Amino acid sequence: MYSEKVMDHFNNPRNVGEIENASGVGTVGNAKCGDIMRIYLDIDDDGIIQDVKFKTFGCGAAVATSSMATELVKGKTVNEALQVTNKAVMEALDGLPPVKVHCSLLAEEAIHAALWDYAKKKGIVIEGLEAPVADIEEKIEEEY
Ligand code: FES
Repeated sequence: MYSEKVMDHFNNPRNVGEIENASGVGTVGNAKCGDIMRIYLDIDDDGIIQDVKFKTFGCGAAVATSSMATELVKGKTVNEALQVTNKAVMEALDGLPPVKVHCSLLAEEAIHAALWDYAKKKGIVIEGLEAPVADIEEKIEEEY
């Protein structure tokens, strides 16, 4: 049911933890399943994501997608990180079962929420970045 990559990231999640004084922190939940994801970003003066950590209180697919999402945004610019969609995360994991697609949306949204927090703290506008939702269900109803 799950790809080897999903199982690997679930069993050995990368970048678990917190960053003190993070440049941006984003927390997103899914009211339906009760899962919550938090992403911490450390962004340098050039706008490069130097470090990223996550904490996920959620299902195995949510853990695997957060882990992969953190790997995909590390070392990237803010604008490149915006391109890391849930589809990109799923592709990097060799797919997810259809009932677990929404879990990958949590990862995308938590990164966007952390970028939003960073932009707010810096007083800048990141083009193409929309205000995050606190509950991902709002987006799922819109898009799926
Ligand atoms: Fe809730 Fe996966 S079941 S995030």
